[in-house]
Amino acid sequence: MDTKVRNVMEEDSEEYYREASAILQAGGLVAFPTETVYGLGGNGLDSQAAKKIYGAKGRPSDNPLIIHIGNKAHLTELVSEVPDVAWNLADAFWPGPLTMILPKAEKVPYSTTGGLDTVAIRMPNHPVALRLLEESGIFIAAPSANTSGRPSPTLASHVYEDLNGKIDMILDGGMVELGLESTIVDLTEKIPVILRPGCISKEMLEKVAGEVTVDPAILQADKNSTRPPKAPGMKYKHYAPKAELTIVSGTQEKVWAWINEKIAENEKQGLRTGILATDESASGYCGGIVRSVGARGEAGQIARGLYKVLREFDHLQVDYIFAESFETDEMGAAIMNRLLKAAGYAVEKV
Ligand code: TXA
Ligand code: MG
Repeated sequence: MDTKVRNVMEEDSEEYYREASAILQAGGLVAFPTETVYGLGGNGLDSQAAKKIYGAKGRPSDNPLIIHIGNKAHLTELVSEVPDVAWNLADAFWPGPLTMILPKAEKVPYSTTGGLDTVAIRMPNHPVALRLLEESGIFIAAPSANTSGRPSPTLASHVYEDLNGKIDMILDGGMVELGLESTIVDLTEKIPVILRPGCISKEMLEKVAGEVTVDPAILQADKNSTRPPKAPGMKYKHYAPKAELTIVSGTQEKVWAWINEKIAENEKQGLRTGILATDESASGYCGGIVRSVGARGEAGQIARGLYKVLREFDHLQVDYIFAESFETDEMGAAIMNRLLKAAGYAVEKV
């Protein structure tokens, strides 16, 4: 299959939306930008399209998809019963990086929900995504548009790298704004539960929904814990670059010293070392391939740069990656959740 790439930042992009809509309506696959990461879209009510999505990503079919809608009112079409808290959260955070888990309506196929009786729904806050939803009139099921297990795409070129030849079209809308996947909140229990941390924090949710808890499985700091996460996708190794990644945590001086020693050791053996650093710390490394994800303390910058830097290390064919730790502020939880999974929970405390 020839994957068409269409740059919707060009002036005359109307035609591209028409083309993309026709593909979706015919059961095909179109990748598109959202404010979080690029999504791989297909018709969420068509079980064949869902199967194609799993095939293109190489994703296990028990890992359900998020359905994207362009209008809050569409909740009632996909959900059997919408609780008040869902409407309140939609008013507060949609369009935006929040996904809600609710009981599914009958017409939502099990192939989209991975066999579950619940469905994940989000209204994205990106002009390209919203326009595609409106023009196609399709409820778009879309996981992140990466090969299963790889870092999520924050640029159209990342999608191309993973899915060229496997999907019909990529709409290129430039670099995404946030860079981390949406916060997922399960509203099927009495007290809402966060299944995946994201840019919308527990504190922000609590202002609207009252008490909110966090799925204990995602707080665990090691891979040996036996508790399975409630979002099926969170149990897989994820976001992973090809090289072995270790998070190094400690005071800046000690982190520099420890990593510099490793760089020297690796160099002696002819091995390449990638270092995931910040603007402030980058100059403290001697040798190796140093990449800054942004300014420390600017969690937004770090979130936005994380996956891009992990993919860059793949291109540079490094053998080992050492990453600084980012327990900075409220978004630090979401960043560390992704980084820990990418590292397979390998943390060196120095
Ligand atoms: O920001 C995002 O959420 C991006 C953009 C494209 O919208 N999408 C995304 O989708 O990250 P994906 O498929 O990569 O991650 C969806 C997560 C998975 O961990 C999946 O297991 C969980 O949502 N999920 C989906 N439906 C669920 C359900 N009914 N119950 C529990 N977890 C669910
Ligand atoms: Mg994903």
